[in-house]
Amino acid sequence: MRLRGRKGIRETIESQHDLVVLNPAEWKGRWAERFGNEKPIHVELGMGKGKFISEMSVLHPDCNFIGVDMYDELIRRASEKARAAAGREDGSAPDNLALALFNIERIADVFDEGELRRIYLNFSDPWPKKRHARRRLTHAGFVRQYVRLLDSRGEIHFKTDSRPLFEFSLNSFADLNIRLRRISLDLHKDGPAPDNVMTEYESKFYEQQMPIYRLEAVIGQEALAEHEASLALAERQP
Ligand SMILES: C[S@@+](CC[C@H](N)C(=O)[O-])C[C@H]1O[C@@H](n2cnc3c(N)ncnc32)[C@H](O)[C@@H]1O
Repeated sequence: MRLRGRKGIRETIESQHDLVVLNPAEWKGRWAERFGNEKPIHVELGMGKGKFISEMSVLHPDCNFIGVDMYDELIRRASEKARAAAGREDGSAPDNLALALFNIERIADVFDEGELRRIYLNFSDPWPKKRHARRRLTHAGFVRQYVRLLDSRGEIHFKTDSRPLFEFSLNSFADLNIRLRRISLDLHKDGPAPDNVMTEYESKFYEQQMPIYRLEAVIGQEALAEHEASLALAERQP
């Protein structure tokens, strides 16, 4: 994503204590305290301009949301989007949303084991060169860390327009013996998929009629048991 430099961006995000977290490692193990409640925490890694995480926070007040990116300018843009999505006269942001500035390579410094319920990876950079494979956010090195941070109902939801990244990710999950479900090679083939919030990148690809690849990885023991139970029930249906 190409970004224009702009004076005053740091000052703009520094002043937004209600929404922006510039020192996320200070909240490791204490994110529930930051939100002031024990609602499950859903994180989008690499949120870009923040359309998805802002809309999700408004649609799901029963969860807390954290949008992560490593660029000041994207945090600034996402903060504008979040306040607009809340639609409040005083310009305040959704109470269940935080925007955190950090490099995902440091994720283990920011969240504690079992602190997260769900991780969204939306249109992560594909890093097509083989020598950059370790930077892909679905590389086994990253996925192992996500597994530690997720709770007993934890899941990873992944969407991409990149077939090579999707193939790579299927292999990563398979190598780690991770259970997958709701796999799609063309998420919007019958029109916009129901119960799906589109990201900025996704809207653009959808307009170009490009296929979107999607999967869910079921991580936590309770989530796995629930998934098994729903499969058994479906099999018993006439
Ligand atoms: C291709 S964009 C997708 C943005 C958004 N999720 C969407 O679907 O519209 C990938 C985003 O991930 C962010 N990103 C990539 N690697 C990152 C890293 N290691 N740490 C934090 N953010 C990262 C980039 O800055 C960029 O905003």
